[in-house]
Amino acid sequence: MSIVEIATQPHAGQKPGTSGLRKPVTVFQQPHYLENFVQSIFDSVSGSVSGSVSGSVSGSVFDSAPDPKGTTLVVGGDGRYHNRAAIQTVLRMAAAAGYGRVLVGQGGILSTPAVSCLIRKYGASGGIVLSASHNPGGPSGDFGIKYNVANGGPAPESVTAAIYARTQEISVYRIWAEDAPIDLERVGVTKLGPLVVEVVDATDDYAQLMTTLFDFDAIRDLLQGDFRFCVDAMHAVTGPYARRLFEDMLGAPAGTAIHAVPLENFGGGHPDPNLTYAHELVERLFGENAPDFGAASDGDGDRNMILGRNFFVTPSDSLAVLAANHRYVPAYRAGLAGIARSMPTSQAADRVAQGLGIDLYETPTGWKFFGNLLDAGRVTLCGEESFGTGSNHIREKDGLWAVLFWLNILAARRQSVADIVQEHWRTYGRHYYARHDYEGVKSDRAESLMDGLRQRLAGLPGQRFGAEEVAYADDFAYTDPVDGSCSAGQGLRIGLVSGSRLVLRLSGTGTQGATLRLYLEAYEPDAQRQNLEVGTVLAPLVAIAEEVAQIRHYTEMERPTVIT
Ligand code: G1P
Ligand code: ZN
Repeated sequence: MSIVEIATQPHAGQKPGTSGLRKPVTVFQQPHYLENFVQSIFDSVSGSVSGSVSGSVSGSVFDSAPDPKGTTLVVGGDGRYHNRAAIQTVLRMAAAAGYGRVLVGQGGILSTPAVSCLIRKYGASGGIVLSASHNPGGPSGDFGIKYNVANGGPAPESVTAAIYARTQEISVYRIWAEDAPIDLERVGVTKLGPLVVEVVDATDDYAQLMTTLFDFDAIRDLLQGDFRFCVDAMHAVTGPYARRLFEDMLGAPAGTAIHAVPLENFGGGHPDPNLTYAHELVERLFGENAPDFGAASDGDGDRNMILGRNFFVTPSDSLAVLAANHRYVPAYRAGLAGIARSMPTSQAADRVAQGLGIDLYETPTGWKFFGNLLDAGRVTLCGEESFGTGSNHIREKDGLWAVLFWLNILAARRQSVADIVQEHWRTYGRHYYARHDYEGVKSDRAESLMDGLRQRLAGLPGQRFGAEEVAYADDFAYTDPVDGSCSAGQGLRIGLVSGSRLVLRLSGTGTQGATLRLYLEAYEPDAQRQNLEVGTVLAPLVAIAEEVAQIRHYTEMERPTVIT
């Protein structure tokens, strides 16, 4: 038995953001930085684990935590720089914490949705994902760690708050003394002291789950015909999953998945599936002789971008289209319980929910807010404007699931992506939509902008700006209908009488200064006016945002750094 206790001191700033703790790699490489956070997770989810080791710190920091002693933990990452080293540390600390078994992806690779799938399938008490999602990787890029709970979803705020509290008082961590690294390359079972370490194929269980949801025969038929499809894994985690699903199982030609080998620095790219960063895919889909369908996913595989030939589907529209077409998919044929979207996501899905006569829930930004609704059976589909879509099949957003959903619809309807979306707009109206990001803003100036606008909110209703009049303005607060927990300060909303909407909030995932996000939405029911240029339609809303929030002044920028 060789559990070593190492004295440590708190590192400042280990507060999990929208999706776990994200920092530059160099921050994670500081002595004890990762260890402190991992121990804080284990202490937070454990009463007796810490008590089982003599001289250890005591006690559970919240009451309802399952005791992980002897339980299974799932561990994997998106393959970015520092992943392998970090996984070795997590395994040795899990052994010291008393876990019974760890399931770890081969080569240390697991997508975020695959982790969620494994936790649920094997009854794990939780999982650790090593990823900074869509942030760039490499020695000068970012690294991250997030904890998922037993339902497979991101830890709720009560848990992340407990973890953060623990990081501020930690004085010791425990690790299994072992010099030889665990071999992660071979699938099979090894032991690390008393801990059973099971290296699993990263794609098996996830791919199997997908076969239970979608009409694989119909999709196979589509992909083996004239239909041309390209999926961009952006040199991140979804490469092996995309090859397995689309090429091996569904018979799409080899090379359908591009940039399919995960690289530690994502090939120098920014693994964020949007029109700016997935530019090679965009050039193909908007170029000569373009494929019928294109998709991309992010660093850890939970995001997706959907493109048709010469056509971009906004994530908000994608959620609405999936909901409206759920009957084509075996798993959802019986109907949807409800739909949830994050507050800044456009209201396109609301109209579908209304048409279907089901509930629509508006939650704060971040997937963790969907967990309770999914667990309670209140919703079946969820989505965020930030290229995230998912369902009750797991408790994370799921990039390749969304691609399969689209393929299933395309296989059933045999229409182009553009036709399907335009028909959708004719039925429900179009929600023109864009998000303007101002990255790397000085933090104090970003706070001043938000404070200034917050103070003006009460006076805005009734005010006119050109042709528009403000109907309501508030700071979004959410009360979870399942557990009654409240989350305030979730973004400033300005709703106009015309139905258009502006939202401003600060990012909770950035690692450099502050990122201001401005979300713009305009509703157009008139079918004759549904094919206008998005920027033109939204320009009056941009002008209102500038007037009420003085964005140029506070950000010291003339224009956003990224528009999605
Ligand atoms: C961003 C997105 C949010 C998403 C999160 C994690 O968070 O806006 O929708 O859930 O990444 O992928 P933000 O940086 O805005 O806090
Ligand atoms: Zn992600």
